[in-house]
Amino acid sequence: MTDFSIRPVSSSPAQLTMLSNLLVETVASGGSVSFMHPLELADAEVFWRGVLDSAAQGERILLGAYDGDRLAGTVSLVLVQTPNQPHRAEISKLMTSVDYRGQGVATLLMQAAEALARDHKRTHLMLDTASDSNAVSLYEKLGFQRAGEIPDFALNPFGELTGTIIFWKNLN
Ligand SMILES: CC(C)(COP(=O)(O)OP(=O)(O)OC[C@H]1O[C@@H](n2cnc3c(N)ncnc32)[C@H](O)[C@@H]1OP(=O)(O)O)[C@@H](O)C(=O)NCCC(=O)NCCS
Repeated sequence: MTDFSIRPVSSSPAQLTMLSNLLVETVASGGSVSFMHPLELADAEVFWRGVLDSAAQGERILLGAYDGDRLAGTVSLVLVQTPNQPHRAEISKLMTSVDYRGQGVATLLMQAAEALARDHKRTHLMLDTASDSNAVSLYEKLGFQRAGEIPDFALNPFGELTGTIIFWKNLN
């Protein structure tokens, strides 16, 4: 069984390439992560550059799950910046490389993101996910509560409308 290491992703060109390949692959496999299939590698790079900039400014923490030097998955913990919500963070862009799915990578990433949220005194987590995503059962297993479902919220990567489920979890 692989031992995955969970750590922040640095902003090197090699990391950018791995992140971008992971996003392209996730979209191609039907993952609803804001993009349409086929996603160009260059567009994926633009997206991750923005995420890495945001992480450098302390607005979020971008975590990677690594098998050695190989990126197996990622998640972002977005530290909400509004003055009246200092206790809130959001989970975004959880994805596991197709080669590594079903090995607990996303679970490890979510547990690490929760621990970091606590370290940053964030006690209220929120996220949303496509209604037909494999992630629904993962979030329920991790103790997230369903706030509700919005039908026809977005297109999946292949152009069909899909709903979104909003989840929350109190860390107190
Ligand atoms: C959802 C996703 C992140 C799960 O990653 P993973 O590393 O394979 O997940 P884990 O191995 O930690 O599995 C944890 C739980 O997720 C659920 N799960 C994972 N894969 C599943 C599948 N193919 N079918 C149903 N449930 C599944 C199960 O509840 C599983 O628990 P179990 O192993 O005890 O049955 C991955 O499938 C993915 O990247 N999907 C595309 C992107 C996406 O939809 N991201 C969520 C956006 S918010």
